Order: sequence, then C-alpha cells, then structure tokens
Amino acid sequence: MNLTRRSILAAPAILRAQDRPERLRIAMIGTGNRGSFLLRNLLELDGAEIAAVCDILPERADAAATMVSKKGGAARTFTDYRRMLDEVRNLDAVIQAAPDFTHREIDIAVLERGLHLYAEKPLALTVEDCRAVRDAARRAKGVMQVGFQLRHDPARAAAVGWIHEGKAGRVLQCHGMRHGGDLPRNIPWYFDKTKCGDIVVDQGIHILDLFRWAIGKPPLRCYGDGGTSLFIDTPPGRTVMDHYSLIYEFEGGVQVNFSHHYFDPPGFTGVQERVFSSEGALDLIRAEFQPRQSRERMKLEVPGAGKDSTLLSLAAFLDNVRHGRRPLNDVESAFEATLVALMGTRSIYEKRVVTWQEMVA
Ligand SMILES: NC(=O)c1ccc[n+]([C@@H]2O[C@H](COP(=O)([O-])OP(=O)(O)OC[C@H]3O[C@@H](n4cnc5c(N)ncnc54)[C@H](O)[C@@H]3O)[C@@H](O)[C@H]2O)c1
Repeated sequence: MNLTRRSILAAPAILRAQDRPERLRIAMIGTGNRGSFLLRNLLELDGAEIAAVCDILPERADAAATMVSKKGGAARTFTDYRRMLDEVRNLDAVIQAAPDFTHREIDIAVLERGLHLYAEKPLALTVEDCRAVRDAARRAKGVMQVGFQLRHDPARAAAVGWIHEGKAGRVLQCHGMRHGGDLPRNIPWYFDKTKCGDIVVDQGIHILDLFRWAIGKPPLRCYGDGGTSLFIDTPPGRTVMDHYSLIYEFEGGVQVNFSHHYFDPPGFTGVQERVFSSEGALDLIRAEFQPRQSRERMKLEVPGAGKDSTLLSLAAFLDNVRHGRRPLNDVESAFEATLVALMGTRSIYEKRVVTWQEMVA
C-alpha cells in the first residue's frame, strides 16, 4: 500500500468510520416465542436496523414493531411474508423464526431473492426438504446461518475447541441427557409431529448437533426406542413422544448415547452434555475437563464466559454477512444435524437400526 502524507493524516478518520459496523436492513418472519427473543437480542446489536416484521397473527407483528419503536426504530408490519419481501426496499437480511413445518417454503423464498438468511432450526422435516433448502442455500447469493446457537455458547465452544485441538485425546463416547418438564402448552404445534417432526427433530437436535460437531463427522448407524408413557393424549391430540433414548455409532466405535424425556421431577436430573475421551472427560456446559490421571478438575479458559449464545450467534451472523464469511452454524452442518435427528426418529418409529447411508442415498 502506498502511504502518502495525506492518507496517513486521513487514517484516523478512516479507522473511526470502519469502527462503526455497516448498517444492515433486516426483516423478521415469525415473531412468537423465539422470534421475539431473537428480536430483543438483535436490538442490542450495533448496525441492525429492523425494517419490517411479519407474523400471520397481526397482534404479534404489532408487538414486535412496538419492541422496535421502543428502541428508537420503525418497523413496518405484515401478515404475509411474500408481500413483505416484495414491498420492503433494500433489505439485506431476513431472520426466520416460524414453526418448523414452514421452514422449507420460507427459507427457499428468502434465499431465492438473494437475501442473507438466519433461519431457525431444524432445516426442514424430511430428508428431501432438507436437501431442497441446502441446495437453495448453495445456489444463493446470501449467507445462510441456522439457529444452532449453542455452537456460539462460550463454554461449549471452549470445550469443543479443546477436543478439536486434540487436548482431550481420542473421543470415545458422548453422553447427553435432556430431562425436564413437558413442552409449553401454549404452543400447540409443538405437540403435533406433522408440524414439528417430533421431539428429536425439534428439541433433541441441539445436543445431537453439539456431539456431531465435537466428533467431526456424521454417525454410521443408529438405534433408538421411545414413545409416550406419561402424557398420553395430553394435551388432547398429542402425537409427539414424551421420552426416547438413542444410541449412535460412529467410525472407530465412537458412541453417542442420548436420553431425552419430559417427566423429570423438578430439579432431579436436568441437562448434561459430556464427552469421554482417552485422556479424561469433558463437561461441555461447564467447560470443565477431568483428566484421567488426576483428581483435580480443570476449568477451561472460556473467552466471553457468561455471554448469551443467541446474542453471540446473531452478532456472528451480522459479521458473516458483512464479510461474506461462512458461519460456524452453516447450512451444511445444519443439514447433517437435521439428518442425524431424522435418523433417530426413523429408528424409533420403525424399531430398527437405521444407517447414515440410507439417509443420504
Ligand atoms: N434455537 C432455539 O433455541 C429455538 C428455541 C425455540 C424455538 N426455536 C425455533 O423457532 C421457531 C419458532 O418457534 P417458537 O417457539 O417461536 O414458536 P411460536 O409458535 O411461538 O412462534 C412462531 C410464530 O410464527 C408465526 N407464523 C406461523 N406461520 C407463519 C408464516 N407463514 N409467516 C409468518 N409468521 C408465521 C406464528 O403465528 C407464531 O407467532 C421454530 O422453528 C422453533 O424450532 C428455536
């Protein structure tokens, strides 16, 4: 670079201008439970202008617009996302937080318009639909990031980084548990497996994604068992399970063992994400390593400890859009995570071993 006296004198002003992130015009689709949480976080970030919000329920779009106006912005409201995409000029990106069964249609519509997209998980509810979204993202001009925000959680990121750097040795087994109370009753589609893909695909998927990320490759085969034991027809019409257990086998005999249920008495077992390795064992949630040869547990260094994973994931999205970078939670990893979950569901429903080969055939 040729640095003239003039350019040297101008440099501080240039640096100041670069300090301010480029402003991005964003629209939101789906402003219910998750959408309003995403919006609250987005409104904390520099350079995100919420230009429009859309929900098929007008009162939800209005509530989102009120959140925007309280932060000094002005968002137009819509109940039809296609109209919003047609009418709102100069949009850069869309945040999608609509129910799972709408993801394929909405995501492809956004990608085909050349906009950047932050789309909630899962990618879609069938292998064919996942492939359609992934292929649209591959063809698209914009960046696509998917709502696997736990990859941005500081503790989990530090723990998985520790594994990827080889400091834990060879991964032998991942053990996950998501035990809690039942799903929130005020969101009816959560209980309809045709709309959410059942609880492996809608809920268990986050932990399965973390383990697949830690191991670095998809499983070879899976076997599972599950059903509804306590919340039978509760709420009325329920078609989703209230418990299941899955075992995935990976190359080299690595195993993922995951149990998920909704009948945990308060405070009993909770959520656990643990990776056992040749050198010891890691607790992903606490970012702690227990070496095999010592009683002393190590606290890993956790940059950004305590920061919210959703805020960090959205901040990363804005950055990825500005710099054209590939997201950590990109469409390829989301495709595999969703197939891992669909594989588990297929195994449980069909009571047989399901192979990765048949999922991707
Ligand atoms: N990443 C996470 O941790 C996380 C957590 C919760 C939910 N989610 C995901 O977020 C999404 C939304 O879940 P939720 O819990 O907010 O459900 P929700 O029902 O509370 O919100 C969905 C909203 O989308 C609206 N909607 C439905 N169809 C629409 C359409 N065609 N166009 C515009 N709006 C539409 C609904 O009226 C509703 O307000 C789901 O995909 C869910 O899996 C992700």
